[in-house]
Amino acid sequence: MRLNGKTALITGGSSGLGAAMAKRFVAEGASVVIADIDDAGGEALAAELGDKARYVHLDVTQEADWAAAVDSIKTLDCVINNAGITTAGNIEQVTLEQFRHEFEIDVVGVFLGCKYAVAKMKAAGGSIINMSSLAGIRANADLVAYNGAKAAVAHMTKSIAAHCGKSGYGIRCNSIHPGVIRTPILDKVLAQVPNPDEVYAGWVAVHPIGRIGTPEEIAAIAVYLASDESTFTTGAEFRIDGGSSI
Ligand SMILES: NC(=O)c1ccc[n+]([C@@H]2O[C@H](COP(=O)([O-])OP(=O)(O)OC[C@H]3O[C@@H](n4cnc5c(N)ncnc54)[C@H](O)[C@@H]3O)[C@@H](O)[C@H]2O)c1
Repeated sequence: MRLNGKTALITGGSSGLGAAMAKRFVAEGASVVIADIDDAGGEALAAELGDKARYVHLDVTQEADWAAAVDSIKTLDCVINNAGITTAGNIEQVTLEQFRHEFEIDVVGVFLGCKYAVAKMKAAGGSIINMSSLAGIRANADLVAYNGAKAAVAHMTKSIAAHCGKSGYGIRCNSIHPGVIRTPILDKVLAQVPNPDEVYAGWVAVHPIGRIGTPEEIAAIAVYLASDESTFTTGAEFRIDGGSSI
C-alpha cells in the first residue's frame, strides 16, 4: 500500500502503460482518475478496478478538458502525462501536418498537463510524471517527429522541476524513458512501416537484456515516483530500457 490515500490522474489511462499504471496504483491503495479519449476502454477499466477508479474524457490537447477534469478532483497528489502517439518516418517522409499532430499530443498535451498539475498541487505538493521515451535521449533516423517530441518532454520536465523547487511548491517533476514495451502502440507503429518483422527484430536487438519490456515494469517506477519514497527526486530522467542506453 505504498500509495495509500493518494489520488492520481493518468492520461492515456485506457490502454498500455497508462492502464498498467492505473491497475498497479489501485493495488497500492491509490484512487485513480483514468483520463483518455478512448471512452469505451477507459470506462471498462474503471469498472474493472471498482470504486477506487473513475474515467473522465480528456483530450490532452484541449485546455477546456484539462480545466474540467482537474476541477472535478478534490485533492490531487500525482499527474501522469502519459498519453502519446508515435509517428514513424524520417525527415524526408514526415509531413508538416504529421509533425504538428505529433507535437500537439506529445508536447502541447504534456505542457497543458503540467500547467494544470502545478496550479492544482502547488498548495500541498505532489508529483508530476512525464512519459518521455528512450527515443527522447537516443535518436533514430526513422522517428524524426517522435524523437523531437520526446526530447522536448524531457527538457520541459527539468524546467518545471526547477520552477517548482525555486517556488517552494513541494512538487516534483520527473520523466520516464522506457525502451520498447509491449503495448498496443507497437502495433500502431508496425502498421505504418513496410517491413514490420524486421522492425520488431530490431527492437529486440537493441535491448542488451535480450527482450522488450512489459507495462508492469514501467508501472513499478511510476509507483516509486508517485510515492513519498521519492521526495528528494526531481528533474531526473529514469531510463527503464533493458540496458539499451548503455
Ligand atoms: N510502448 C512503448 O514501447 C513505449 C516506449 C516509450 C515510450 N512510450 C510512451 O508511453 C506512452 C503510452 O504509450 P503506450 O505504449 O501505452 O501506447 P497506447 O497506444 O497503448 O496508449 C496510448 C493511450 O493514449 C491515448 N491518447 C492518444 N491521444 C490522446 C489524446 N489526445 N488525449 C488523451 N489520450 C490520448 C490513447 O487513446 C491510448 O489509450 C506514450 O506517451 C508513448 O510515447 C511507449
